[in-house]
Amino acid sequence: MKIAVVGTGYVGLVTGTCFAETGNTVTCVDINAEKVKKLSNGEITIYEPGLEKLFLRNQREGRLTFTTNLADGVKESLLIFLALPTPPGEDGSADLSAVLKVAGDLGKIITDYKIIIDKSTVPVGTAEKVQKVMGANCHCEFDVVSNPEFLREGLAVEDFMKPDRVVIGTNSERAKKILSDLYAPFVRQGNPVIFMDERSAELTKYAANSFLATKISFMNEIAILCEKLGADVDMVRRGIGSDERIGKRFLFPGIGYGGSCFPKDVRALVKSAKETGYDFKILEAVMSINEKQKLYLIPRIKKYFNNDLKNKKIALWGLAFKPNTDDVREAPALSIINELLKEEAIISAFDPEAMNNVKKILGDKINLVTSQYDAIKDCDALVIATEWSEFRTPDFERMGLVMKNKVIFDGRNVYEPARMKELGFYYESIGRAINS
Ligand SMILES: NC(=O)c1ccc[n+]([C@@H]2O[C@H](COP(=O)([O-])OP(=O)(O)OC[C@H]3O[C@@H](n4cnc5c(N)ncnc54)[C@H](O)[C@@H]3O)[C@@H](O)[C@H]2O)c1
Repeated sequence: MKIAVVGTGYVGLVTGTCFAETGNTVTCVDINAEKVKKLSNGEITIYEPGLEKLFLRNQREGRLTFTTNLADGVKESLLIFLALPTPPGEDGSADLSAVLKVAGDLGKIITDYKIIIDKSTVPVGTAEKVQKVMGANCHCEFDVVSNPEFLREGLAVEDFMKPDRVVIGTNSERAKKILSDLYAPFVRQGNPVIFMDERSAELTKYAANSFLATKISFMNEIAILCEKLGADVDMVRRGIGSDERIGKRFLFPGIGYGGSCFPKDVRALVKSAKETGYDFKILEAVMSINEKQKLYLIPRIKKYFNNDLKNKKIALWGLAFKPNTDDVREAPALSIINELLKEEAIISAFDPEAMNNVKKILGDKINLVTSQYDAIKDCDALVIATEWSEFRTPDFERMGLVMKNKVIFDGRNVYEPARMKELGFYYESIGRAINS
């Protein structure tokens, strides 16, 4: 099939590449000329495990091309995917300006039947808005479909190639048939393609992310209670997670969720609910718990240093909002860094993939170094903000030798408290005993 993907960020590039991988001809469109130039030259613009190999192969085979020109990009395509940003507006609602701008442009451009498929996360009713905006200028037939994307950054290729489910919101039989054929190679193992109306599909995405964010915040509160009551959150987690109704995943406490999706999607759903006159109390609580949780370690670090962090050298391991991505949008590490800088601490940090993105935000305010051991050289304390695999089994002896103080504040519960005690570290984590 001939496909256009408009917006070539995390979702668009993965979507375009994976559709090309199953033999489709894909043109990715983006307004960012520099990005398009790099991609056209075979240079990948995001870090996503497994993506580069597929990207290069499909580009070489001529199935994956890039352009800044929307009209050229969609000319040959039957399917036009929108993978455009929907960032939070001032009031927390999703900003649909990019989606509606492209919809308006498409209305003027298309001259024969197309299916416009919204992959961006958008509030209920957006498909109808897109339909209206396009229809204002368009005289040919088209269908607007909601097809929310559930991929996880860091596992995006795997998630896209083998999705747990594909949700397709449309009442058009014609669109249903074409999209069933498109997705057939991705669900060969029998995972469902679930057809529904557009509104339900749009809400499904927000409900999924908000539920997961709630699960995280719930565990973070259980962890706080564990500390207060002398329980161990790892034990409680395993105790409840083995109940199939609860499940083992998303039960790890930490320093809060971040990224480009959970924070904005929870906010947007709360706003959508408000617009209907409904107060979504659980999600209001989830948002405020998460904001606090991002800074959970700060008072503890301050207490350890008697409220004086001036010129203390604090090292950070991990900057990305989660492992296996270079994405730092709403990353807890950035909130921690801001607080530590206010206290005039000196920060050195290492992340395997996210340092370029952090440099763009923080410039020279912190020292970004090229190895995890350089980061902790002469440091007064180490903060672990992202659970990259390479932080799990470090050379503890080497750490002890290079750190000024053997002090670790672990926001991701990467180590066993008892082991850290044996190794002579002062070690604080989330919801577990403090070893001093
Ligand atoms: N990142 C994720 O893990 C993820 C997962 C599921 C769903 N989503 C949703 O998918 C959507 C896209 O997210 P993302 O993370 O890929 O965003 P992104 O910011 O990485 O990418 C968006 C791209 O769209 C381009 N763009 C902006 N305006 C444009 C226009 N008018 N024409 C053409 N291109 C334009 C930007 O230059 C950018 O390259 C959002 O709604 C997001 O909520 C994201």
